[in-house]
Amino acid sequence: MGEESGYSSSDKDVLFDDAVLKRLDLSACQFAERGQNYPKPGGADLLARPLQRGDFAKGILRLLSQLTRVGDYGRETYEAQFDAIKALPGMTYIVVVEDCSKQRVVATATLLVELKFIHNAAKRGRIEDLVVDEEYRHLRLGSFLLELLTVLSRELGAYKVTRDCRPPLEGFYKNYGYVNEGQLYLSQRFRD
Ligand SMILES: CC(C)(COP(=O)(O)OP(=O)(O)OC[C@H]1O[C@@H](n2cnc3c(N)ncnc32)[C@H](O)[C@@H]1OP(=O)(O)O)[C@@H](O)C(=O)NCCC(=O)NCCS
Repeated sequence: MGEESGYSSSDKDVLFDDAVLKRLDLSACQFAERGQNYPKPGGADLLARPLQRGDFAKGILRLLSQLTRVGDYGRETYEAQFDAIKALPGMTYIVVVEDCSKQRVVATATLLVELKFIHNAAKRGRIEDLVVDEEYRHLRLGSFLLELLTVLSRELGAYKVTRDCRPPLEGFYKNYGYVNEGQLYLSQRFRD
C-alpha cells in the first residue's frame, strides 16, 4: 500500500467512502502479525481502496474475467452498474488493489451486506468475487483482501460472514478462520 495507513483515494467517484477502510483495526490480521504492512512485489506500488468509476480503464473487467465469464459490454454498462450499486449505500463494498506503477487493478473482492429479520434484526456479510491477477498471485493479496473484508463485515455489525468456495480452496479459507458448517451450496442457473 502506498500510505502508512494503507489507503487513500484520489478519485471522488468512489463506490464508498474510503474512511470506512481507514478506520478498521487490522492489527489482529495475519499479515500484520507477520510484520507486513502489506505484501509488495518488487517495485510495485500497491494500493488497496474502494472501487472507482475509472477502474473500467484500469482493467477491472479483465481482472474479473480471470474468475468467471464477464460478458461483452462496454464502459456505459459498467458505469450504469456502478451507479446502481452506489445508489444503495451500505450494501456492497467492492475493494480493489491497484498497482499504481501500472495504473492497473490487480486484485478485487466484494463484501455484500444483507439486512435480516432473524438474529435480532441482524446484518449478514457475504464475501464474493475474490480474484487476484495471475501475475500477482502468491503475494498474499488474496489473503489480505479476505482478512480486510472479514474485519469490515464484523465492524459493520454483521452477526456472521460467509464465503461460498470451490472445494479445492477450502483450505485457503480455513487458514483465515472460516469453517465448513456442513451446509450445501445449491444453485439453479438461468443463464451464463
Ligand atoms: C484464490 C486466489 C484468490 C488466491 O490469491 P493469492 O493472492 O494468490 O493468495 P495468497 O498469496 O494470499 O495465498 C496463497 C496461499 O494460500 C494457501 N492456499 C492456496 N490455496 C490453498 C488450498 N487449496 N488449501 C490450502 N491453502 C491454500 C497457500 O498457503 C498459498 O501459499 P503459497 O503462495 O505459498 O502457495 C487466487 O489464486 C485467484 O484469484 N484464483 C482465481 C479465482 C478464484 O479461484 N477465486 C476464489 C474462488 S473461491
